[in-house]
Amino acid sequence: MKDTYKAVEVCAPGVLRVVERSVSEPRTGQVRIRVEACGICHTDAATVTGTYPGLNLPRVPGHEVVGRIEALGSGVSKWKIGQRVGLGFFGGEDGVCEPCRRGDIVNCQNPVIPGVTGDGGYAEVMIAEARGIASIPDELGSAEGAPLLCAGITTYNALRNAGLRGGDLVAVQGVGGLGHLGIQFARHMGFRTVAIGRGSEKEKLAKDLGAHVYIDTAADDAAAVLQRMGGARAILATAPSGDAMGPLVSGLAVRGKLIIVGVPQDLMQLNAFPLVFGGRSVYGSLAGTAIETEDALAFSVLENIRPMIETAPLEQAADAYARMMQGKARFRMVLVTKDGATQSASVN
Ligand SMILES: NC(=O)c1ccc[n+]([C@@H]2O[C@H](COP(=O)([O-])OP(=O)(O)OC[C@H]3O[C@@H](n4cnc5c(N)ncnc54)[C@H](OP(=O)(O)O)[C@@H]3O)[C@@H](O)[C@H]2O)c1
Ligand SMILES: [Zn+2]
Ligand SMILES: [Zn+2]
Repeated sequence: MKDTYKAVEVCAPGVLRVVERSVSEPRTGQVRIRVEACGICHTDAATVTGTYPGLNLPRVPGHEVVGRIEALGSGVSKWKIGQRVGLGFFGGEDGVCEPCRRGDIVNCQNPVIPGVTGDGGYAEVMIAEARGIASIPDELGSAEGAPLLCAGITTYNALRNAGLRGGDLVAVQGVGGLGHLGIQFARHMGFRTVAIGRGSEKEKLAKDLGAHVYIDTAADDAAAVLQRMGGARAILATAPSGDAMGPLVSGLAVRGKLIIVGVPQDLMQLNAFPLVFGGRSVYGSLAGTAIETEDALAFSVLENIRPMIETAPLEQAADAYARMMQGKARFRMVLVTKDGATQSASVN
């Protein structure tokens, strides 16, 4: 085995470059993963632009990783060499902060975040905390599985934890990496599913993904349309635009919930009236833990939910990232390594 590996690192804000690094041994409680595929999430922008609080450059981005374990640190008993695993945004808890002590580990105040606190999956090799990895079902290919590790678990958890019931009117705003999975989850969880996008271009795609109704905000006021339909029990807001999120509160039914998963740069303005008169609420939801990710993967296999992806070789990470940022990806760019390409060739 070579003692170096290829990685794509952010060397300065906005600059992704291919580098060769030395392979290191996993420490206690860690595993080394031979990466097969890594999705490009919009949150990677905070690493690429160097704006994530506390981030140090150079840093390898990437937190939608699928690969095989090739080395175990001491004290790792759950995982085996050769096993295919995945890693998402939540890479491990510290176990000692107040949320952790209360069992709310996804809200750990000092979490391990691949691509932020340590190097992530835009690489042939990465080191992960064993407690942060999820097992990948055989039914899922590595490239098609990768987006489920962040975009998938984020939308799946937000929807399944919202106290909804079968038949409820649920809208998903933003038809991108997160949104196109949110639409599929909402539909397969049994909700009357509305997709909200800007422009008519994604209407057919959104309906093919399972949306019963598509609202084009260039032509219609989303809140007004939702009210005409009876009001949404929940709206899952994925678009990175605070400006577009705030007005959605007026599209909620009494006691409806605006669930924020997108993290826009701009502020969100809220009208207090629909919040107070009708007990509507707005709250956020962050990714999910490794075991919850296994639930999301199992549900995706059960209901035959798959991300729509475009793949690119690892070396073309900069172009693939740019395509995501330009909103051109349909709907997730996934970087594939040499090992990933060999694996999928031997499966097919
Ligand atoms: N909560 C979490 O744990 C979590 C996890 C992952 C990601 N995130 C965040 O979630 C957001 C989305 O991530 P992503 O990976 O899905 O990004 P993405 O693939 O770039 O998709 C974002 C989508 O939003 C659409 N959009 C932008 N402005 C819009 C508007 N005003 N109205 C309707 N649609 C609009 C874009 O479509 P057009 O430009 O074509 O209109 C694009 O398809 C990011 O802020 C990311 O940081 C949060
Ligand atoms: Zn992400
Ligand atoms: Zn903690």
